Amino acid sequence: MLILCFVPHFLFEAPCTGCRCCASGTDCITTNGVIECLDPCDTYTVLNDTWRSTENTDYSYIHCDAYISWSGWYRFYLGQTSAQIPEKCVAENRCGTSAPMWINGTHPVQLNEIVTRNVFGSWYGSCFYFASNTIQIKLCYGYYVYKLQQPSVCNLAYCADEQQHQLCSPV
Ligand SMILES: *[C@@H]1O[C@H](CO)[C@@H](O)[C@H](O)[C@H]1NC(C)=O
Ligand SMILES: *[C@@H]1O[C@H](CO)[C@@H](O)[C@H](O)[C@H]1NC(C)=O
Repeated sequence: MLILCFVPHFLFEAPCTGCRCCASGTDCITTNGVIECLDPCDTYTVLNDTWRSTENTDYSYIHCDAYISWSGWYRFYLGQTSAQIPEKCVAENRCGTSAPMWINGTHPVQLNEIVTRNVFGSWYGSCFYFASNTIQIKLCYGYYVYKLQQPSVCNLAYCADEQQHQLCSPV
């Protein structure tokens, strides 16, 4: 088997163990204690909290994603429908939190493409008040999956919008 790792020191260790060189479109994912290169389109956690909706203006209970230990990849749902993180600024005190998180950029357009995007949290009249972290997004057949990170502070939480386009439908 020919394994190509482009960073030389990898060649002197057991190549690709611990997912040092996962194939394009795959990622190092831990399932049941086993770490391997997997396709996040198949191996993800469902995130279906209705409170994450950008339509949600009820902030009587303030959620904070900094309390969650994020691991691996996630697929958003609102009800039975695939959802996505909004690409536009969301006003503060929505999405069941104080500072709603949105991405400054677009989702991937190529099937199996993984992109990195900056996440911002709106607060105090600024869409960019919290420059929280980066996330990765993959376009799967008909939905997105996200590799989410813990935001820097409370109260920040990821927003969800209904999916904007029908993705990768057969032509
Ligand atoms: C979220 O998904 C879980 C597992 O499928 C389900 O039990 C729960 O009712 C769902 N929650 C909502 C709000 O859709
Ligand atoms: C938001 O994205 C635009 C377009 O990619 C970029 O020019 C701008 O610098 C970004 N803003 C911040 C605050 O990162």
